[in-house]
Amino acid sequence: MSDYAKRPDDLDGIKQTAEKYGFCIVKGLFSAERMREMEALMAEEWKRGTSRDLMSSDQLRPVILDDKILRIANALLGKELVYYGETSMNYEPEAGKIANNPFRTLHADARGTPGDINKTWDPAPGQVYRGYRFGIYFRDYTRYSGGLKVAPGSHHVGQTKFKPPRGLRNFFGKHRVDLPDGSSIKIPTATYELYDIASEPGDLVIFSLRVFHSAGAARLKQNPTYAMHPAIENDLWKSQPDLFHPYPSGGRNTLFFDYAAPGEEIDLYIKWRAWRSYNSGGDNVEEFNFDDERIVREAAAKGISMRFDKIMAKALKAKQNERLEKLKANNREFSNYHSITAAS
Ligand SMILES: [Fe+2]
Repeated sequence: MSDYAKRPDDLDGIKQTAEKYGFCIVKGLFSAERMREMEALMAEEWKRGTSRDLMSSDQLRPVILDDKILRIANALLGKELVYYGETSMNYEPEAGKIANNPFRTLHADARGTPGDINKTWDPAPGQVYRGYRFGIYFRDYTRYSGGLKVAPGSHHVGQTKFKPPRGLRNFFGKHRVDLPDGSSIKIPTATYELYDIASEPGDLVIFSLRVFHSAGAARLKQNPTYAMHPAIENDLWKSQPDLFHPYPSGGRNTLFFDYAAPGEEIDLYIKWRAWRSYNSGGDNVEEFNFDDERIVREAAAKGISMRFDKIMAKALKAKQNERLEKLKANNREFSNYHSITAAS
């Protein structure tokens, strides 16, 4: 197993790996049968036609409340987990728009500072960001293209210092690739490490909201473990597709869900998402119903508390005053900055 992969019962190892590198692959958490069941539930959910966050879905809530997952989330984040509606399902019966248009831009998700809700969040020396995204991928990315690319350790580095490359200023060295016509090209190599996550069905992929990552990692046939910068990868994928292993067949079906620990940095992230939703819409999903008391109780029984900021932003916009007042009374913030409760 690679340094980045751990077994499900190695909780200390998972935590250490996630904190050291900004991500961890938990190998074989789900059986093949469980993977089939989950994908069937996704197919049912997809038939609704309207997307909703996973906690709001009676089909998929049991997936994200699975004790096997929560045990790992607790090991990473402590006893009290926070859910704030940052979840999504990618599902296609066959490879289509999702599979063929991966977001090949290196970025970190964490945003929000006390002074500016839109600014990128940087760690103090040694500070661990207490929010993770969990990903269940239903295809094999050990041999195929299309998985997650990460920059190991980039969660410790300031975003301004890290500078995702523009032009070639952040590149050094070159990686030689032979072309079918007998000639060769040299690919600029980034100044920092990149890694294409080799996950296979059954694995749980965990990454910090602060680690740099991009989707649709392309695996070179000549050197499948050489992780290319996504800016270059995207051009080469289009101009020389035969150099790469293809995407696996079938939809790029995935489930993504965030859990965090209460704290200032996640408070700012939650509010950034809520204010963005309020100001410009653009949510990943269309419907949020996890303020339903039945769901709140079910999650609370597993040690999960809810943040409703995103639902509040929608209620505020839609002038659903009754719902908004109820949410305001039940929304426990972790900092006073940029409060959507106070503003509404
Ligand atoms: Fe992202």
